Amino acid sequence: MFQPIKKAVFPVAGMGTRFLPATKVSPKEMLPIVDKPLIQYAVEEAVSAGCTEMVFITGRNKRQIEDHFDKSYELETELFNKQKTQLLEIVQSILPKNVSCIYIRQPEALGLGHAVLCARPVVDNEPFAVILADDLIDAPTGALSQMIGVYQQTGNSVLGVEEVDRSQTGSYGIVTTSEKDHHLAVNHIVEKPKPAEAPSNLAVVGRYVLTPRIFDLLATTQRGAGDEIQLTNAIAQLLQYETVLAYPFEGKRYDCGSKLGYLQANIELGLKHPDIGEAFRQYLQQQSF
Ligand code: G1P
Repeated sequence: MFQPIKKAVFPVAGMGTRFLPATKVSPKEMLPIVDKPLIQYAVEEAVSAGCTEMVFITGRNKRQIEDHFDKSYELETELFNKQKTQLLEIVQSILPKNVSCIYIRQPEALGLGHAVLCARPVVDNEPFAVILADDLIDAPTGALSQMIGVYQQTGNSVLGVEEVDRSQTGSYGIVTTSEKDHHLAVNHIVEKPKPAEAPSNLAVVGRYVLTPRIFDLLATTQRGAGDEIQLTNAIAQLLQYETVLAYPFEGKRYDCGSKLGYLQANIELGLKHPDIGEAFRQYLQQQSF
């Protein structure tokens, strides 16, 4: 048995410039898909994978995230007094009682690797998960649950991967793999290669299960692409010490860091929504766009 994964790290300090002006004061992670903010989908995925400690790496202008996962006395009292029990239930069930939230400030935007390193004081010597809320993954069994299943079989770090169009390699960490004991072992990983230089079109999307050795490597990782401390570069070093697996999860990923992906997620999750899905489908069918 390998150590269980209890901690999920959510790097949420980014500025979200691609969604300005919506993200001028509101964190991009609070953008809703239908009626839930992106960060809540991410936390629900971690909770359903068995994580009980949510570690948010936050920055300026991110207070709303803390408030969202906190008790809202005024709102709850108001809903209680008006006997709006269903809404009260929605508000009170955002986070199960056994789950706690920890907030760590990332004072400077030095990149994803630096954000993950900021989690070291609370994660310390345990394996842990990283979820990028921008990558919303809709799956019957959460992508992180699937990946933790692989970790539990092998004890290895696991990267969530998916094939992308070759023209898109410049937006992702790209891996090459070979088969090892019925899993895909990563041979090589490179951050955001140009399509012509990309060694494959297998991209890391925002899900990682990592062994704690990554912290030692992140602590000495030099700034890379975009002058940032890249998680990808530390993972490349991890390969010298440990097997790292790539896992093509089952589920549909929406790149909610882009406007197009964000709208696609709203449409598809809107169509599946228990309250408005059917009416939305009828509306769309009646249109002649
Ligand atoms: C980050 C990582 C990249 C990964 C991507 C997944 O990039 O650096 O390796 O493929 O997330 O969404 P970002 O999207 O933050 O630029």
